[in-house]
Amino acid sequence: MTDYFSYQNDQLCAEQVPLDDIARRFGTPCYVYSHTALVDGYSQFDAAFAGREHLICYAVKANSNLAILHLLARLGAGFDIVSGGELQRVLAAGGAAHKVVFSGVGKTAAEMRLALDAGILCFNVESAAELMRLNEVARDMGRTASISLRVNPDVDAKTHPYISTGLKQNKFGVAYAEALALYRKASELPHLRVTGIDCHIGSQLTEISPFIAAAEKILTLVDALAREGIVLEHLDLGGGLGIRYCDETPPSIADYAVALLGALRGRSEKIIVEPGRVLVGNAGVLLTRVEYLKHGEEKNFAIVDAAMNDLMRPALYDAYHEILPVNIRTTSPLPNPLPQAGEGAIEKSNVLTYEVVGPVCETGDFLGHARELGIVQGGLLAVMSAGAYGMSMSSNYNTRPRAAEVMVCGTVVQLIRERETVHHLLAGEKTFVL
Ligand code: LLP
Repeated sequence: MTDYFSYQNDQLCAEQVPLDDIARRFGTPCYVYSHTALVDGYSQFDAAFAGREHLICYAVKANSNLAILHLLARLGAGFDIVSGGELQRVLAAGGAAHKVVFSGVGKTAAEMRLALDAGILCFNVESAAELMRLNEVARDMGRTASISLRVNPDVDAKTHPYISTGLKQNKFGVAYAEALALYRKASELPHLRVTGIDCHIGSQLTEISPFIAAAEKILTLVDALAREGIVLEHLDLGGGLGIRYCDETPPSIADYAVALLGALRGRSEKIIVEPGRVLVGNAGVLLTRVEYLKHGEEKNFAIVDAAMNDLMRPALYDAYHEILPVNIRTTSPLPNPLPQAGEGAIEKSNVLTYEVVGPVCETGDFLGHARELGIVQGGLLAVMSAGAYGMSMSSNYNTRPRAAEVMVCGTVVQLIRERETVHHLLAGEKTFVL
């Protein structure tokens, strides 16, 4: 739990608003975000890097809702995008193209054109082939593309293998040993302008040392480049700072910044960082209602109306998300007779150990294993720390329309994404007629 989601009179609230009210008004499953948490997170980041020329490029993939992008743009953020679609979102949300960096291993020519047309700050190029393609696309448009090479520093981020990106065996970036030669090549291509260097070693890092190890390797390269007359304007150190889901103890934003700034002491390049999760992860929860309680031979199941299509992280990474009852009184002893489930019911139940699962037809469709919960049918649960890589990774598997999204600031509640309908899902499909 965070300060932004706390119990008030036994009711779990988003800021000052009971989640029960939100569920009644907007239905479930529903993502709920704290505006204050978002503002505080960004402000902390910005303050931590103050005193040094810096740009915080929020990693859009973590949560790309327009309201969130709009809020961050207003606070002064830049954006790290990985597709033409994300660029269009940033522009639609009022983000400034000249604060956008474009990462990703598979940029298409069309995406490059879109980004050149918009006038983005920099392409983070991830291969020799991409460098050649970008030069050609820029030439055809009569433009010059500003580039960084994303260098793979071969540093162990000590995180989940699926979200570790800075090792030799990963598909990301340019091999450290090849970077110098590729920079030489880039500096000779007429439609490219070499402006920076970039690295991103992974996500959900809970230690500072891999960030510093990566930064040091990058700086060695920056100095070698300078000796050849290739002088860089910015250093992009990626994202990756972890958050607390359970009992992790990630460094604070301030400690992370102090360490990075320490490693960069005495240097004049502008610093870019690409945080995603740390800005939004603990600013959101997934609100879900218990549809059924099923007491199996070996396990008790709480079957809820959110599923792996809404929050994929548990199924995909075996990720842990805390699950809390929205009404704390549901943890009281079992009443007799048992109350009937109903809309908004806050019936009492005893605490049992539950598998919290969704309705999707996959054994991997779970939100939490072995959770001690006092719940009843019709009760509400909040899946915590779901603001990052929750909605943005959701899908329509099992033809499930995607969840609504709501933002709360103090006592103000606004819908920031309507619940999808089956109509939306079927709209583009056609029967095959011979
Ligand atoms: N920059 C680049 C180039 C990235 O690839 C990423 C994340 C970020 C920045 C932001 O990283 P963050 O600060 O959020 O750690 N779906 C996974 C996480 C995948 C991260 C992919 N890249 C999850 O749910 O844990």
